[in-house]
Amino acid sequence: MTNATRIHCPTLRNRIMSASEAAALIPAGANVGMSGFTGAGYPKAVPQALAEHIQAQHAQGDNYRINIWTGASTAPELDGALAEADGIELRLPYQSDPTCRQKINEGQMEYIDIHLSHVAQHAWFGFFGKLDIALIEVAGITEDGKLIPSSSVGNNKTWIEQADKVILEVNYGQSAGLEGMHDVYYGTALPPNRRPIQILQPDDRIGENYLRCPPEKIIAVVETNAPDRNSCFSEPDEISQRIAHHLLDFFEHEVKKGRLPENLLPLQSGVGNIANAVLAGLEEGPFENLTSYTEVLQDGMLSLLRSGKLRMASATAFSLSPEANQELADNIDFYRSRIILRPQEISNHPEVIRRLGVIAMNGMIEADIYGNVNSTHIMGTRMMNGIGGSGDFARNGYLSVFMTPSTAKGGAISAIVPMVSHVDHTEHDVQVIVTEQGLADLRGLSPKQRAKTIIENCAHPDYRPRLLDYFERACASGRGMHTPHLIGEALSWHQRYEETGQM
Ligand code: COA
Repeated sequence: MTNATRIHCPTLRNRIMSASEAAALIPAGANVGMSGFTGAGYPKAVPQALAEHIQAQHAQGDNYRINIWTGASTAPELDGALAEADGIELRLPYQSDPTCRQKINEGQMEYIDIHLSHVAQHAWFGFFGKLDIALIEVAGITEDGKLIPSSSVGNNKTWIEQADKVILEVNYGQSAGLEGMHDVYYGTALPPNRRPIQILQPDDRIGENYLRCPPEKIIAVVETNAPDRNSCFSEPDEISQRIAHHLLDFFEHEVKKGRLPENLLPLQSGVGNIANAVLAGLEEGPFENLTSYTEVLQDGMLSLLRSGKLRMASATAFSLSPEANQELADNIDFYRSRIILRPQEISNHPEVIRRLGVIAMNGMIEADIYGNVNSTHIMGTRMMNGIGGSGDFARNGYLSVFMTPSTAKGGAISAIVPMVSHVDHTEHDVQVIVTEQGLADLRGLSPKQRAKTIIENCAHPDYRPRLLDYFERACASGRGMHTPHLIGEALSWHQRYEETGQM
């Protein structure tokens, strides 16, 4: 494949084989732990070969399917190929693949949506059963058999430790300079023997640069040379810029009030248009010496590092455009001294997030007038992606911010509703809601005070009078005056949308 091998361990060089040979080692019904987090560091060849193998088996009338556990979302070569082949019986956790989503919502695939920090520990607790095979992308193998992690760490440490057998993909397309960027912590234990996670600052390193794996577990090594999914960066639109503007004004206000330090607190940010706009706003804004303790590093984080506004960033994965990926590869020494990639149970660890006082900024589908947030289910039933790490950060952060445009589908849907159709983040975990209309600071407010603030500041003017009318009639009903609702009407906005296409 290349003159300069990345497989320096002689024993493991003997296990090199083709992707289809490796795929044939995965039996029907297996629980397979795969690498991959937000389209980074996922295996690229074996899943596609496995999809072909599965299709051939199906053609012979064999009902061949496997269960897939990952870090988070992967890419068309993994989730897409295996879902198309009808090869996935059960999938966990977060996914964002259109074919997977369709199969989940048509009831053809089981899906378990859990907090990303919970995945590894639930596997250790034995909640998912036995892991048969780990299929992990790495950037190389050292002479003594240590594995150089790829562009994500995710749950790889846990999958390798838990699985009976390990298949490795060594991807020559990943920058060799990733070596040394990772911090893989081997100190986790089961209750009641757990010890504190000693991360006192976002840049503390507490682990090792490599993944460990006993060579006798490794049954196949497949060489690949392919880029990560690397979806294109989209310039923030006007609505996202307005949302970012409200949030950055709020941060300045909080600094003036003495509730935030001048360099803010470590930032967590989701991916997408609004997150891009917030990061771009930070680039222009007055804050210096920022840090980030987050799960994903997107283009905006790299440019904040480059400009010096961001001192360092800790995460579990990259999620970059092709241009940003090139920028990373071209300047890998610069970024390696400023970026730490950790297992997701550490990047999203409640203890660390609480200690550091992370500012959590996440997208949402809808919020209700009392501040409950739905991040996952369209009209209460159809899965979008999953909760991801939003709950890890929202519940444990110093500040938890949720952001969305005030309407969806060309104005047919209000993102602020009387009652959310599904709850991911309860009113107790939501402190700030932002839309392009404005920002609702819910801290220290009772439910009725929250309702007025959210309706006035965040709802679209087309929906504001109807939300106010609902709230006033609920209050006038005189029943349940702590959190007034008209129970028969609370979900009528969603029902109307399902019936007429308009809330
Ligand atoms: N009702 C129905 N549909 C809605 C909606 C609502 N209230 N709000 C948004 N949508 C639809 C949009 O129309 C769009 O549909 P389309 O794909 O058919 O165009 C889709 O949902 C995505 O909306 P968009 O505005 O592009 O949002 P986004 O890309 O910022 O994603 C979430 C929003 C909530 C789906 C996304 O943030 C998410 O998956 N969050 C959960 C995980 C998470 O927070 N992770 C954080 C750590 S990375």
